Amino acid sequence: MIKFGEVVIRPIERSDLQLIQKWYNDDEVMYWGSGSKPDMMVSLDYLEEVWYEQIYSESATRMMIEIEDGSPIGVIGYRDFNVQERRCKLTIFIGENKYWGKGYGTDAVKAFLRFLFNRWNLNRVEVDTWHGNERALKCYEKCGFKLEGRLRKARFVDGQYNDEIILGILREEFE
Ligand SMILES: CC(C)(COP(=O)(O)OP(=O)(O)OC[C@H]1O[C@@H](n2cnc3c(N)ncnc32)[C@H](O)[C@@H]1OP(=O)(O)O)[C@@H](O)C(=O)NCCC(=O)NCCS
Repeated sequence: MIKFGEVVIRPIERSDLQLIQKWYNDDEVMYWGSGSKPDMMVSLDYLEEVWYEQIYSESATRMMIEIEDGSPIGVIGYRDFNVQERRCKLTIFIGENKYWGKGYGTDAVKAFLRFLFNRWNLNRVEVDTWHGNERALKCYEKCGFKLEGRLRKARFVDGQYNDEIILGILREEFE
């Protein structure tokens, strides 16, 4: 378990998958999270197959974010873990909109960065989103991420092309 502020980060259990399926099929969460609405429903069978692969893969993992009353509220993890370069990409979503804007995302990202830098000895962590996701950008900036790049018209959101924003944080900046 990783504890920080108001959140606990813990492993994902099989019993969590139904909730994760609900979040994955939620238009609003996916709109902000990926910049595009899901074009198909995600089945529980599919999730079980894919998620367990991801949870145990060497290059990607996912964990559950829980708050102090024991409610699971979202998922955090990494992908594209590069051992030689000691870097990865962070990924996060809080699946219930009633929990947005309350500081849980910032606590979860800070907790996970501490885990990645101190426990995994990483040198840099990246994160990306689309330029309209101001809540996510603010959250990442509060955690110390710096703007590193902008891919013009790289994300298609609700019929319009949007820029992808790339942010990064170095180990020494986190310390
Ligand atoms: C992005 C996300 C992880 C952030 O977590 P969170 O708990 O909502 O964020 P926090 O409350 O820690 O911080 C958000 C900050 O943005 C601000 N904010 C909220 N809505 C905003 C908006 N529409 N425009 C600008 N700032 C906004 C908040 O006031 C807060 O800043 P403050 O602490 O200075 O007041 C969460 O909102 C989420 O999962 N959203 C849906 C999916 C998603 O966007 N995932 C990220 C994919 S890259």
